[in-house]
Amino acid sequence: MTNIIAIASEKGGVSKTTTAVSVGGALVKAGQEVLLIDLDPQASLTLALGTPPHTIRRSTADMLFTATTPISLSRETSIAGLDLIPSNAELIMAERFLPIRKDYKNILKNLLADIQLYDTIILDCPPALGAITHNALVAANLLVIPTLPEYLSVYTLRNMLSIVHSIRMKDNPKLNYRILISMFDQRIGSHINISKQLRTTFKQAVCNTIIQVDTRLRDSTVAGIPITHFAANTRSAKEYLALAQELTENV
Ligand SMILES: Nc1ncnc2c1ncn2[C@@H]1O[C@H](COP(=O)(O)OP(=O)(O)OP(=O)(O)O)[C@@H](O)[C@H]1O
Ligand SMILES: [Mg+2]
Repeated sequence: MTNIIAIASEKGGVSKTTTAVSVGGALVKAGQEVLLIDLDPQASLTLALGTPPHTIRRSTADMLFTATTPISLSRETSIAGLDLIPSNAELIMAERFLPIRKDYKNILKNLLADIQLYDTIILDCPPALGAITHNALVAANLLVIPTLPEYLSVYTLRNMLSIVHSIRMKDNPKLNYRILISMFDQRIGSHINISKQLRTTFKQAVCNTIIQVDTRLRDSTVAGIPITHFAANTRSAKEYLALAQELTENV
């Protein structure tokens, strides 16, 4: 069965897209076939894989609005085994037009139901808890919530978790979730304290792997290549390999 992982948080800039592309690269290194789906109109994932969004004619907007099959929209990236359904600004309309559809929260789930080509599908969500993120959480079996070990980021976890509970009750009882501490800086005392508090509060829901701050991740985004392939020996590449393994074990 295909593992469907949504990477989501209503907080912006917490490394959702970096995690999507890096876990994707790591799973490919582990021998998997992976499909990344860019569900953000900002199209950062699309850019992070070296594709300028304005050059894209068919995107996730076609998939969600006209039920175009995902397989016909997926394209190969420069990494063998890693495919992408790109996004562009057309997806902005989704928040307005999806909710007027009947059964709109199940659109993505239904589209992904018959895909057997991939071991894992990763959904990169926008920084909002609207119709797109709801669709992702209904389609996924695992939600990864990246958070910085900082007060404002951790605060938004409350909202995320109440959404998870409501989706579990109504639309997707099998939705599991993990909290990922990201951009951790061991020189900052409050990062150490808040990370400890997160583990005390959320226990096994917090990933064992922590992603530390690493400027090479920014370089890999500019290069349009996942860190696991751009600079395989860096600390962050190794951390993402460990994270991918951890997420696979929990399927
Ligand atoms: N571990 C890290 N170390 C250093 N920089 C990082 C790390 N993770 C992400 N970044 C950088 O932080 C910025 C935000 O990351 P990213 O775009 O992945 O976040 P996001 O949650 O997807 O943002 P948005 O909410 O806008 O979609 C990017 O410039 C990215 O390169
Ligand atoms: Mg993003």
